[in-house]
Amino acid sequence: MDGFQTLDVILGRRSCRGFSTEPVPQEILVDILEAGQAAPYIMPNSRHFTVLRDRRLIEEISRVAKGEGGKISAEHFALFSSPGFDGTYGASTLIILSGNEATRQFELVCGLSAQNMLITAQAFGVASCIAYFPIFAFFGADGESWRNRLKIPAGFRPSLAVMLGYSEYGMDDGADGRYKNEITYIS
Ligand SMILES: Cc1cc2nc3c(=O)[nH]c(=O)nc-3n(C[C@H](O)[C@H](O)[C@H](O)COP(=O)(O)O)c2cc1C
Repeated sequence: MDGFQTLDVILGRRSCRGFSTEPVPQEILVDILEAGQAAPYIMPNSRHFTVLRDRRLIEEISRVAKGEGGKISAEHFALFSSPGFDGTYGASTLIILSGNEATRQFELVCGLSAQNMLITAQAFGVASCIAYFPIFAFFGADGESWRNRLKIPAGFRPSLAVMLGYSEYGMDDGADGRYKNEITYIS
């Protein structure tokens, strides 16, 4: 793959917010997770990956996240309580990234892993969405029991999620509507 092909994959990725029920094949999922593990880290054992493939369990997390996230602000409540809202968008696979709290920048370390997975998913034609939303499920009084149920190791904090699947609408062509940041060159 040359540089332009890599750039095409990166520019072609957009967040998917409507997944079909089609599962991601296991061999592709393994490659996506391998890419997640290959991201830079500050110290070994910086992050933990929890892979959920049971749509009923993902829906349960989505319901709990809606309830807990809705307590953050009136805007969150209005969005999450709108009819039919599902912040996991029907994704067939949900990966929760938990950062080792002994690493000061554990959220950043999870973010790097997430980005590697998004790009690799795109290269395999798998749609994705990075999301904080499912993390709200760990906010409430039942947060600890969710951590136990999902076998998140002690000392690791759920920090970010990646949702994977196949788009209900086909893959976006990427560039449309992408916000561009300002770049300052100093020479
Ligand atoms: C840390 C982080 C958390 C995010 N959380 C959510 C989320 O909870 N739900 C969601 O739909 N999108 C979420 N996004 C996705 C952004 O909305 C999206 O990346 C941004 O609008 C740019 O669009 P693009 O991904 O299509 O390029 C999150 C992005 C980041 C970086």
